[in-house]
Amino acid sequence: NELPLNLFEAIAFLKQELNAVILAHYYQEPDIQDVADYIGDSLGLSRQAASTNADVIVFAGVHFMAETAKILNPEKLVLLPDLAAGCSLADSCPPQEFAAFKAAHPEHLVISYINCTAEIKAMSDIICTSSNAVQIVKQIPAEQPIIFAPDRNLGRYVMEQTGRDLLLWQGSCIVHETFSEKKIVQLKMAHPKAEAIAHPECETSVLRHADYIGSTTALLNHCKKSSASTFIVATEPGIIHQMQKDAPHKQFIPAPPTANCACNECPYMRLNTLEKLYWAMKNRTPEITMSEEIRLAALRPMQRMLEMSA
Ligand code: 13P
Ligand code: SF4
Repeated sequence: NELPLNLFEAIAFLKQELNAVILAHYYQEPDIQDVADYIGDSLGLSRQAASTNADVIVFAGVHFMAETAKILNPEKLVLLPDLAAGCSLADSCPPQEFAAFKAAHPEHLVISYINCTAEIKAMSDIICTSSNAVQIVKQIPAEQPIIFAPDRNLGRYVMEQTGRDLLLWQGSCIVHETFSEKKIVQLKMAHPKAEAIAHPECETSVLRHADYIGSTTALLNHCKKSSASTFIVATEPGIIHQMQKDAPHKQFIPAPPTANCACNECPYMRLNTLEKLYWAMKNRTPEITMSEEIRLAALRPMQRMLEMSA
Protein backbone atom coordinates (compact mmCIF):
# COMPACT_ATOMS: atom_id res chain seq x y z
CA ASN A 1 0.00 0.00 0.00
CA GLU A 2 2.88 2.34 -0.68
CA LEU A 3 2.39 5.43 -2.74
CA PRO A 4 4.47 5.36 -5.97
CA LEU A 5 7.31 7.87 -6.17
CA ASN A 6 5.99 9.45 -9.34
CA LEU A 7 2.24 9.87 -8.97
CA PHE A 8 1.86 11.51 -12.38
CA GLU A 9 3.39 8.48 -14.14
CA ALA A 10 1.43 6.03 -12.00
CA ILE A 11 -1.86 7.80 -12.79
CA ALA A 12 -1.05 7.86 -16.53
CA PHE A 13 -0.36 4.09 -16.37
CA LEU A 14 -3.64 3.36 -14.52
CA LYS A 15 -5.54 5.51 -16.99
CA GLN A 16 -4.41 3.23 -19.82
CA GLU A 17 -4.95 0.05 -17.82
CA LEU A 18 -8.53 0.99 -16.85
CA ASN A 19 -9.38 2.77 -20.10
CA ALA A 20 -10.33 5.68 -17.85
CA VAL A 21 -11.02 9.33 -18.48
CA ILE A 22 -10.26 11.92 -15.80
CA LEU A 23 -12.79 14.77 -15.70
CA ALA A 24 -11.95 17.68 -13.40
CA HIS A 25 -13.62 20.89 -12.30
CA TYR A 26 -11.66 24.15 -12.27
CA TYR A 27 -11.86 24.32 -8.46
CA GLN A 28 -9.63 21.26 -8.06
CA GLU A 29 -6.03 21.63 -6.90
CA PRO A 30 -3.56 22.43 -9.72
CA ASP A 31 -1.96 18.94 -9.80
CA ILE A 32 -5.36 17.35 -10.40
CA GLN A 33 -6.15 19.83 -13.17
CA ASP A 34 -2.80 18.94 -14.76
CA VAL A 35 -3.56 15.18 -14.95
CA ALA A 36 -7.13 15.67 -16.21
CA ASP A 37 -8.19 14.78 -19.76
CA TYR A 38 -10.86 17.45 -19.61
CA ILE A 39 -11.37 20.42 -17.28
CA GLY A 40 -14.61 22.34 -17.43
CA ASP A 41 -17.69 23.90 -15.91
CA SER A 42 -20.72 21.81 -14.92
CA LEU A 43 -22.28 21.93 -18.39
CA GLY A 44 -19.06 20.96 -20.16
CA LEU A 45 -18.38 18.19 -17.64
CA SER A 46 -21.91 16.80 -18.10
CA ARG A 47 -21.49 16.76 -21.86
CA GLN A 48 -18.15 14.97 -21.56
CA ALA A 49 -19.59 12.44 -19.09
CA ALA A 50 -22.51 11.72 -21.42
CA SER A 51 -20.38 11.22 -24.52
CA THR A 52 -17.24 9.44 -23.28
CA ASN A 53 -16.45 5.95 -24.51
CA ALA A 54 -13.98 5.26 -21.70
CA ASP A 55 -14.92 2.40 -19.35
CA VAL A 56 -14.20 4.34 -16.17
CA ILE A 57 -14.97 7.99 -15.36
CA VAL A 58 -12.70 9.35 -12.63
CA PHE A 59 -14.53 12.43 -11.47
CA ALA A 60 -12.37 15.05 -9.78
CA GLY A 61 -15.07 17.32 -8.46
CA VAL A 62 -17.82 17.09 -5.86
CA HIS A 63 -20.44 14.41 -5.24
CA PHE A 64 -23.33 15.94 -7.21
CA MET A 65 -21.08 16.22 -10.28
CA ALA A 66 -19.97 12.58 -10.16
CA GLU A 67 -23.59 11.60 -9.52
CA THR A 68 -24.62 13.56 -12.63
CA ALA A 69 -22.03 11.61 -14.65
CA LYS A 70 -23.57 8.35 -13.40
CA ILE A 71 -27.10 9.56 -14.22
CA LEU A 72 -26.00 10.29 -17.79
CA ASN A 73 -23.82 7.24 -18.35
CA PRO A 74 -24.90 4.41 -16.00
CA GLU A 75 -22.84 1.65 -17.65
CA LYS A 76 -19.61 3.33 -16.59
CA LEU A 77 -17.81 2.85 -13.33
CA VAL A 78 -17.79 6.38 -11.84
CA LEU A 79 -15.12 7.01 -9.20
CA LEU A 80 -14.93 10.02 -6.85
CA PRO A 81 -11.57 10.30 -5.01
CA ASP A 82 -13.28 11.32 -1.73
CA LEU A 83 -16.96 10.49 -1.19
CA ALA A 84 -17.17 13.19 1.49
CA ALA A 85 -16.62 15.87 -1.18
CA GLY A 86 -20.14 17.30 -0.89
CA CYS A 87 -21.52 20.78 -1.53
CA SER A 88 -23.16 23.26 0.84
CA LEU A 89 -25.56 24.31 -1.90
CA ALA A 90 -26.73 20.74 -2.56
CA ASP A 91 -27.00 20.20 1.23
CA SER A 92 -29.15 23.32 1.57
CA CYS A 93 -32.00 21.56 -0.23
CA PRO A 94 -33.10 18.43 1.69
CA PRO A 95 -35.39 16.22 -0.45
CA GLN A 96 -38.25 15.92 2.09
CA GLU A 97 -38.52 19.68 2.64
CA PHE A 98 -38.27 20.31 -1.06
CA ALA A 99 -41.04 17.79 -1.78
CA ALA A 100 -43.32 19.71 0.62
CA PHE A 101 -42.38 23.05 -0.99
CA LYS A 102 -43.13 21.66 -4.42
CA ALA A 103 -46.44 20.16 -3.25
CA ALA A 104 -47.47 23.58 -1.90
CA HIS A 105 -47.02 25.06 -5.41
CA PRO A 106 -48.42 22.41 -7.74
CA GLU A 107 -48.87 24.76 -10.68
CA HIS A 108 -45.16 25.68 -10.77
CA LEU A 109 -42.58 24.27 -13.17
CA VAL A 110 -39.44 23.23 -11.26
CA ILE A 111 -36.10 24.38 -12.64
CA SER A 112 -33.17 23.18 -10.54
CA TYR A 113 -29.56 24.23 -10.69
CA ILE A 114 -27.33 21.20 -11.29
CA ASN A 115 -25.73 21.75 -7.84
CA CYS A 116 -28.30 19.48 -6.15
CA THR A 117 -28.67 15.81 -5.28
CA ALA A 118 -30.11 13.16 -7.61
CA GLU A 119 -33.27 13.16 -5.41
CA ILE A 120 -33.85 16.86 -6.11
CA LYS A 121 -33.13 16.38 -9.81
CA ALA A 122 -35.71 13.58 -9.80
CA MET A 123 -38.32 16.09 -8.51
CA SER A 124 -37.42 18.69 -11.17
CA ASP A 125 -38.74 19.41 -14.65
CA ILE A 126 -35.57 20.94 -16.06
CA ILE A 127 -31.98 21.19 -14.80
CA CYS A 128 -29.78 24.17 -15.57
CA THR A 129 -26.20 25.22 -14.92
CA SER A 130 -24.70 28.66 -14.40
CA SER A 131 -23.94 28.82 -18.12
CA ASN A 132 -27.46 28.16 -19.42
CA ALA A 133 -29.86 29.20 -16.60
CA VAL A 134 -30.83 32.51 -18.25
CA GLN A 135 -31.19 30.90 -21.70
CA ILE A 136 -33.43 28.11 -20.29
CA VAL A 137 -35.73 30.38 -18.26
CA LYS A 138 -36.16 32.61 -21.33
CA GLN A 139 -37.57 29.61 -23.25
CA ILE A 140 -40.43 29.07 -20.75
CA PRO A 141 -43.74 30.81 -21.66
CA ALA A 142 -44.21 34.02 -19.63
CA GLU A 143 -47.45 32.88 -17.95
CA GLN A 144 -45.86 29.68 -16.55
CA PRO A 145 -44.92 30.12 -12.84
CA ILE A 146 -41.47 28.73 -11.97
CA ILE A 147 -39.80 27.42 -8.81
CA PHE A 148 -36.04 27.94 -9.01
CA ALA A 149 -33.88 25.83 -6.66
CA PRO A 150 -31.62 25.59 -4.76
CA ASP A 151 -29.42 28.70 -5.24
CA ARG A 152 -31.15 31.95 -4.32
CA ASN A 153 -28.22 34.03 -5.61
CA LEU A 154 -28.21 32.49 -9.08
CA GLY A 155 -32.02 32.67 -8.97
CA ARG A 156 -31.95 36.40 -8.23
CA TYR A 157 -29.44 36.95 -11.03
CA VAL A 158 -31.67 35.03 -13.49
CA MET A 159 -34.66 37.15 -12.36
CA GLU A 160 -32.71 40.31 -13.13
CA GLN A 161 -31.54 39.07 -16.52
CA THR A 162 -34.91 37.77 -17.69
CA GLY A 163 -37.33 40.15 -15.94
CA ARG A 164 -39.18 37.02 -14.72
CA ASP A 165 -40.51 36.48 -11.24
CA LEU A 166 -39.17 33.18 -9.86
CA LEU A 167 -40.17 31.46 -6.63
CA LEU A 168 -36.76 30.92 -5.04
CA TRP A 169 -35.61 28.13 -2.75
CA GLN A 170 -33.36 29.82 -0.16
CA GLY A 171 -30.14 27.84 -0.64
CA SER A 172 -26.63 29.19 -1.15
CA CYS A 173 -22.95 28.31 -1.59
CA ILE A 174 -20.71 28.96 1.42
CA VAL A 175 -17.77 29.85 -0.83
CA HIS A 176 -19.50 32.44 -3.00
CA GLU A 177 -21.07 34.11 0.03
CA THR A 178 -17.70 34.78 1.72
CA PHE A 179 -16.49 37.51 -0.62
CA SER A 180 -16.26 40.94 0.96
CA GLU A 181 -17.91 43.77 -0.95
CA LYS A 182 -15.80 46.30 0.94
CA LYS A 183 -12.50 44.59 0.07
CA ILE A 184 -13.50 44.22 -3.59
CA VAL A 185 -14.25 47.95 -3.75
CA GLN A 186 -10.89 48.70 -2.10
CA LEU A 187 -9.13 46.48 -4.68
CA LYS A 188 -10.95 48.25 -7.52
CA MET A 189 -9.76 51.58 -6.15
CA ALA A 190 -6.18 50.32 -5.85
CA HIS A 191 -6.28 48.85 -9.41
CA PRO A 192 -8.48 51.27 -11.39
CA LYS A 193 -7.83 49.47 -14.71
CA ALA A 194 -8.65 46.02 -13.34
CA GLU A 195 -11.83 44.22 -14.33
CA ALA A 196 -13.86 42.57 -11.58
CA ILE A 197 -15.31 39.23 -12.69
CA ALA A 198 -17.76 37.14 -10.67
CA HIS A 199 -19.67 33.87 -10.65
CA PRO A 200 -23.48 34.29 -10.41
CA GLU A 201 -23.50 32.25 -7.17
CA CYS A 202 -22.15 35.45 -5.50
CA GLU A 203 -24.50 37.75 -3.59
CA THR A 204 -26.01 40.83 -5.27
CA SER A 205 -23.69 43.06 -3.16
CA VAL A 206 -20.71 41.52 -4.99
CA LEU A 207 -22.32 41.09 -8.41
CA ARG A 208 -23.10 44.82 -8.60
CA HIS A 209 -19.36 45.56 -8.71
CA ALA A 210 -18.65 42.98 -11.42
CA ASP A 211 -17.71 44.05 -14.93
CA TYR A 212 -18.41 40.53 -16.15
CA ILE A 213 -20.54 37.70 -14.69
CA GLY A 214 -20.50 34.08 -15.88
CA SER A 215 -19.89 30.38 -15.28
CA THR A 216 -16.32 29.25 -14.64
CA THR A 217 -15.75 28.50 -18.35
CA ALA A 218 -17.29 31.84 -19.34
CA LEU A 219 -15.02 33.66 -16.86
CA LEU A 220 -11.94 31.92 -18.29
CA ASN A 221 -12.91 32.75 -21.88
CA HIS A 222 -13.59 36.33 -20.90
CA CYS A 223 -10.12 36.73 -19.34
CA LYS A 224 -8.49 35.37 -22.50
CA LYS A 225 -10.38 37.80 -24.76
CA SER A 226 -10.45 40.92 -22.59
CA SER A 227 -7.96 43.71 -23.24
CA ALA A 228 -7.60 44.23 -19.47
CA SER A 229 -4.39 42.94 -17.91
CA THR A 230 -5.56 42.71 -14.28
CA PHE A 231 -8.62 40.87 -12.96
CA ILE A 232 -10.23 40.68 -9.52
CA VAL A 233 -11.65 37.16 -9.45
CA ALA A 234 -14.80 36.58 -7.35
CA THR A 235 -15.10 32.80 -7.54
CA GLU A 236 -13.21 29.86 -6.05
CA PRO A 237 -9.50 30.65 -6.61
CA GLY A 238 -8.70 27.16 -8.00
CA ILE A 239 -9.69 28.56 -11.38
CA ILE A 240 -6.74 30.97 -11.34
CA HIS A 241 -4.45 28.05 -12.24
CA GLN A 242 -6.02 27.83 -15.74
CA MET A 243 -6.39 31.60 -16.06
CA GLN A 244 -2.68 31.99 -15.42
CA LYS A 245 -1.83 29.16 -17.85
CA ASP A 246 -3.98 30.75 -20.58
CA ALA A 247 -2.63 34.25 -20.03
CA PRO A 248 0.73 34.12 -18.19
CA HIS A 249 1.34 37.87 -18.63
CA LYS A 250 -1.96 38.87 -16.94
CA GLN A 251 -2.50 39.36 -13.23
CA PHE A 252 -5.31 37.59 -11.35
CA ILE A 253 -6.18 38.79 -7.85
CA PRO A 254 -8.46 36.50 -5.82
CA ALA A 255 -11.38 38.44 -4.32
CA PRO A 256 -10.80 38.37 -0.54
CA PRO A 257 -13.24 36.91 1.97
CA THR A 258 -14.82 38.95 4.78
CA ALA A 259 -12.85 39.28 8.04
CA ASN A 260 -14.73 36.45 9.74
CA CYS A 261 -13.96 33.86 7.02
CA ALA A 262 -10.54 32.25 6.94
CA CYS A 263 -10.37 31.60 3.20
CA ASN A 264 -12.33 31.46 -0.03
CA GLU A 265 -11.40 27.92 -1.12
CA CYS A 266 -14.17 25.33 -1.39
CA PRO A 267 -13.54 22.90 1.50
CA TYR A 268 -15.42 20.14 -0.34
CA MET A 269 -13.58 20.44 -3.65
CA ARG A 270 -10.28 20.50 -1.77
CA LEU A 271 -10.97 17.13 -0.11
CA ASN A 272 -9.84 15.51 -3.36
CA THR A 273 -6.06 15.20 -3.65
CA LEU A 274 -3.77 13.66 -6.25
CA GLU A 275 -3.00 10.86 -3.78
CA LYS A 276 -6.69 10.05 -3.27
CA LEU A 277 -7.23 10.16 -7.02
CA TYR A 278 -4.43 7.62 -7.44
CA TRP A 279 -5.88 5.29 -4.77
CA ALA A 280 -9.37 5.57 -6.26
CA MET A 281 -8.01 4.39 -9.62
CA LYS A 282 -5.79 1.72 -8.10
CA ASN A 283 -8.59 0.22 -5.94
CA ARG A 284 -11.53 1.10 -8.26
CA THR A 285 -13.34 2.66 -5.32
CA PRO A 286 -15.11 4.81 -3.96
CA GLU A 287 -17.75 4.31 -6.58
CA ILE A 288 -20.97 6.33 -7.21
CA THR A 289 -24.14 4.25 -7.13
CA MET A 290 -27.87 5.05 -7.01
CA SER A 291 -31.18 3.31 -7.50
CA GLU A 292 -32.33 2.92 -11.10
CA GLU A 293 -35.66 4.53 -10.16
CA ILE A 294 -33.99 7.76 -8.97
CA ARG A 295 -31.53 7.70 -11.87
CA LEU A 296 -34.25 7.51 -14.51
CA ALA A 297 -36.31 10.24 -12.82
CA ALA A 298 -33.20 12.46 -12.61
CA LEU A 299 -32.19 11.73 -16.20
CA ARG A 300 -35.37 13.20 -17.70
CA PRO A 301 -34.76 16.84 -16.58
CA MET A 302 -31.05 16.47 -17.42
CA GLN A 303 -31.94 15.47 -20.97
CA ARG A 304 -34.33 18.40 -21.21
CA MET A 305 -31.49 20.70 -20.23
CA LEU A 306 -29.16 19.25 -22.85
CA GLU A 307 -31.85 19.64 -25.53
CA MET A 308 -32.67 23.21 -24.48
CA SER A 309 -29.03 24.33 -24.43
CA ALA A 310 -27.90 22.57 -27.60
P1 13P B 1 -19.72 26.14 -12.92
O1 13P B 1 -18.33 25.63 -13.12
O2 13P B 1 -20.70 25.32 -13.70
O3 13P B 1 -19.82 27.60 -13.22
O4 13P B 1 -20.11 25.90 -11.39
C1 13P B 1 -19.45 26.49 -10.34
C2 13P B 1 -19.60 25.79 -9.05
O5 13P B 1 -19.79 26.33 -8.00
C3 13P B 1 -19.44 24.37 -9.04
O6 13P B 1 -19.59 23.90 -7.78
FE1 SF4 C 1 -20.78 23.66 -3.71
FE2 SF4 C 1 -19.97 26.18 -3.55
FE3 SF4 C 1 -18.18 24.23 -3.33
FE4 SF4 C 1 -19.32 24.73 -5.72
S1 SF4 C 1 -17.98 26.09 -4.59
S2 SF4 C 1 -19.03 22.75 -4.75
S3 SF4 C 1 -21.39 25.37 -5.06
S4 SF4 C 1 -19.87 24.63 -1.91
